[in-house]
Amino acid sequence: MVGIKELIDQLKPIFSNAMNSMDLPESIWLPLLGKATVEDHGDVALPCHSLAGILKKAPQEIAKQISELVASDLQSFAIVSSMSGFVNITAKPEWLSNRISILLADPRLGISVDQKKTFVVDYSAPNVAKEMHVGHLRSTVIGDTIVRMLEFKGHTVIRENHVGDWGTPFGMLIEHLLDLGEDRAANELGVGDLDSFYKQARSKFVSDEEFANRSRSRVVLLQGGDAETLRLWRILVDESMRYFNEVYSMLGVMLTDDDIRGESCYQELLPEVLDRLRESGDLEESDGADVVFPGGWVNRDGEPLPMIIRKADGGYNYSTSDLACIIDRVERLGCDGFLYVVGTPQKQHFEMVFQVAKKAGFMSHNHQAVHVNFGSVLDTDGKVLKSREGEVIKLHDLLEESIRRAEQSIDDKNPDLLGKEREEVARAVGIGAVKYADLSTERTKDYVFDWEKMLSFEGNTAPYLQYAYARISSIFRKWGGDRESLATSFESLMESELSNLRSEEILLSRRLVEFPSILDDSVSTFSPHKLCKHLHSIASSFASFYENCGILKEDDEAISQRRLALCEVTSRELKLGLEMMGINVPERM
Ligand code: ARG
Repeated sequence: MVGIKELIDQLKPIFSNAMNSMDLPESIWLPLLGKATVEDHGDVALPCHSLAGILKKAPQEIAKQISELVASDLQSFAIVSSMSGFVNITAKPEWLSNRISILLADPRLGISVDQKKTFVVDYSAPNVAKEMHVGHLRSTVIGDTIVRMLEFKGHTVIRENHVGDWGTPFGMLIEHLLDLGEDRAANELGVGDLDSFYKQARSKFVSDEEFANRSRSRVVLLQGGDAETLRLWRILVDESMRYFNEVYSMLGVMLTDDDIRGESCYQELLPEVLDRLRESGDLEESDGADVVFPGGWVNRDGEPLPMIIRKADGGYNYSTSDLACIIDRVERLGCDGFLYVVGTPQKQHFEMVFQVAKKAGFMSHNHQAVHVNFGSVLDTDGKVLKSREGEVIKLHDLLEESIRRAEQSIDDKNPDLLGKEREEVARAVGIGAVKYADLSTERTKDYVFDWEKMLSFEGNTAPYLQYAYARISSIFRKWGGDRESLATSFESLMESELSNLRSEEILLSRRLVEFPSILDDSVSTFSPHKLCKHLHSIASSFASFYENCGILKEDDEAISQRRLALCEVTSRELKLGLEMMGINVPERM
């Protein structure tokens, strides 16, 4: 273990002695000892305010007393002080350097492997024959990052793309396909004109009685498994997937055709859901429909809110297929956890589904079911993002635009980049910017889609981090030495060379040392923004380190080596952090 946790472990016995002498039991003081909330004050802090009542003394006095008691025992690795009722502990440069050398030597950069679990991550999930909207973009980007982080932590992760490929709208969509002719329809869908296709079908459905009737009979044929109808349905699915896959490949996410498990996959399990709910005694009848009352939810009139399992016309619901999905994930996939990366508007849906599934025994309390919810994407006026014409934005166009804008700013910044390299950098920056803007916002909050901000080379953005990475790569190109050897040369530095660090080196080291625990926290809370925030803090402390501390220009060889080692760890952490988000890091920009 590297970082603050280890520092706390080292402090524990020393504090234990001091606290014993003050008759304070561990159950009281230990939970107070934690990471300092103000970076300037130290690495670890112990707030003494809650001890005032027990010790009948002012917090300031208590903090001072504790500091005096521990000072000599921890002086080999830390410095203690007290301020405003806090005991503040700051690791000494030698301690930091020691951690840096551990990070340097570890290909996993201090990140531990967890006890292996199997997770299903349900993400992206666009709807067939409908444009993927920015909400699907968010799900895709956040879900993919969570998949990568869980895998890096050693878990087995099964990606499931729960595409909306079933239900009554398919009647009208198939009839519209027939009206257009298969080839023309396939072409429209394949190039991503999904929205206009859907709208045309919908408008005929509401205005043309004959079309509506045909559509209804088509639904019956589809549900009955009619071969010709299924063939037509497949065209809709395949052509839409062709477009979705194009978006996935532009985004550089891991989803492939093997990950598709749309709603249609669960059709056969739906009657089983009904049977099992009947057996568990949860099923009730209400106006001809089969329903379950999860309890705890009421409608506008204050009456218990049912979850409809089978409608009066015999059709099943979205909730029913999510229940089937849980049975499938528990029994077929044997997974321990299921994550649903879906927007906040579906919060109640998932709460109800989880509750019903638990009560009916589809999953046990050992299963971790989490709705990894997220907020909306807004435009700069604070409204839900739409195109200028008020239509849903085509994701493909949006990503193209980002790459184009990135090209312009690269041309301004580095006109020497040409040809294929320029193209690749623009792609990495443009796509990286869109993904990172999404990931760096706290997941549950709405985020504003702002081209200027996301493509800026300043601030908490992908281009800023990519640029920092490229800058370090250029230092190493100039240096020309063997980067692998840095770990050994760092270890052979003298104590004095590791202790007289400049303040910029200290701040950078402190942040580098914290990387593993931030990543852990980011994974366990499914919150990529925590990792983003930390990467940004690393890159910004690197910037002031770079400005103030000579690296290759430094005459003292030992100090130069020490600084190169910091560059190396910075570069590797930035790279790994961005890799977790599927964002490429160009060597030159
Ligand atoms: N297709 C749905 C939508 O666009 C999202 C599906 C999410 N996954 C799930 N298992 N319900 O809203």
